Amino acid sequence: MSEKPSYPGNSIMVRPNGPLICSSDINVTIQDADGHLIKQEKELALCRCGQSQNKPFCDGSHKKTEFAAGQEFTDERSEDLPEQSSQSSQHGELIITVKPDAMLLIKSPLTLFSRDGKSVTTRTKGALCRCGASENKPFCDRQHKQCGFKG
Ligand code: FES
Repeated sequence: MSEKPSYPGNSIMVRPNGPLICSSDINVTIQDADGHLIKQEKELALCRCGQSQNKPFCDGSHKKTEFAAGQEFTDERSEDLPEQSSQSSQHGELIITVKPDAMLLIKSPLTLFSRDGKSVTTRTKGALCRCGASENKPFCDRQHKQCGFKG
């Protein structure tokens, strides 16, 4: 078995057929659209199949619903991250905003990668799909409107 890759600072790992594993050396902060704290941990699994009964968190529903979504991706909007400090804390916490009936918005420097390590990108912002319907997973392509996602 090969070791899954890991990255210092903030990162999000795309698990095949499963959730987004969000990690930070400081904290992963999940907030609602008004900026109210939902949860804060060093590592959190966020639903990307759209079926969790505990959104935005993964509750394992992807297994029951046989959610099929690859882990690999290409990113046309990849960005270089700002210069890292000498501290291990690097770029501060990973802040993710849960938009009602829509995407996860990221506004923090981070590395996004597939569990097999074949896809890797860096970003300071972005929108990730949590409805399960995007044709450009893990990114949001606004399919949440067509599929009538609620959550
Ligand atoms: S949240 Fe899935 S396409 Fe936007």
